[in-house]
Amino acid sequence: MPIDLAIVPVAGHGTRLLPSTKSQPKEMLPVGRKPVVQYVVEELASSGMRRILFVTGPGKTSIENHFDINVELISVLRETGKEELLEELEFERKDLQYFYTRQRRQLGLGHAVLCARPLAGHEPVVVALGDSIIGLNAQSDIVRRMTDEFERADADAVIAFETVPREDVVHYGIAKPRSPLTPSPSPPEGRGEKSSVGEVFVLDDLIEKPAVAEAPSNLAVAARYVFKPAIFDLLAQTPPGKGGEIQLTDAIRLMIQMGGRVLGIQLPASERRFDIGNFESYFQAFVEFALADSRYGPALRDFLRSHLANETADARR
Ligand code: G1P
Repeated sequence: MPIDLAIVPVAGHGTRLLPSTKSQPKEMLPVGRKPVVQYVVEELASSGMRRILFVTGPGKTSIENHFDINVELISVLRETGKEELLEELEFERKDLQYFYTRQRRQLGLGHAVLCARPLAGHEPVVVALGDSIIGLNAQSDIVRRMTDEFERADADAVIAFETVPREDVVHYGIAKPRSPLTPSPSPPEGRGEKSSVGEVFVLDDLIEKPAVAEAPSNLAVAARYVFKPAIFDLLAQTPPGKGGEIQLTDAIRLMIQMGGRVLGIQLPASERRFDIGNFESYFQAFVEFALADSRYGPALRDFLRSHLANETADARR
């Protein structure tokens, strides 16, 4: 059976985005015209996911509302002659099933994934972090490539990685790849050139948020994972780690130590990760998505050009 279940943890408080996230989830912040989590779900759907299991927490009900069919809003649009706006609600009709469970205590990402166990514990699963968009406008099929590789290699886990500047390793799970990086022997059928598949490598270790001096590489976990169900047993045995939280990274590390075959797959440059977890990368993502918007992008580009030109002129005065 193809893998079609994705766990999307969305329980975090979003403290790095306060005050925006005081009473709304960071996953509902807009990037261009859509909230973050809509891109995540669209990306997962285009990679073959059919069941989306959100692990939520306090204050996250607007995520559930967003994916409901809003009959009242639809009739208001019809009655007020705004039928053309109905296409903005098309995503509600996707052939997807949604499930929600709550992480009742904030004990870390690993614990959030473990909360999905009663609903997802017996089959391979995708985990997609709800605050990261992969590719401009979520135009990425990285998850499909990961599930293909997972099956082809009979892996225990496949994890997406991006290269980050050395000083940023402190923010991520960092890979120790088996050196030298071993390319995948053959790209999955029908997926074209190897370069579009991304380099695949075996992981010897994974370290959550290491100090710069201790980082074994600058390959950072990029918010997408595929796991055999064994991950749940490992999570249940994982003691609190970095920040006193139960870390998904530590359970993966345990998987490797127990002889599991854990593969990394590098995101190609064309499918960057947009991190909506802090203001710096959120602002950049918003500007990039807004500039790429077919309707509003060109005018925004003109505005920014003249705004920046004026700023430069003022600075010279
Ligand atoms: C989490 C993971 C980390 C990963 C990052 C981005 O960290 O713990 O390993 O690199 O997501 O995918 P967080 O951003 O929740 O601190």
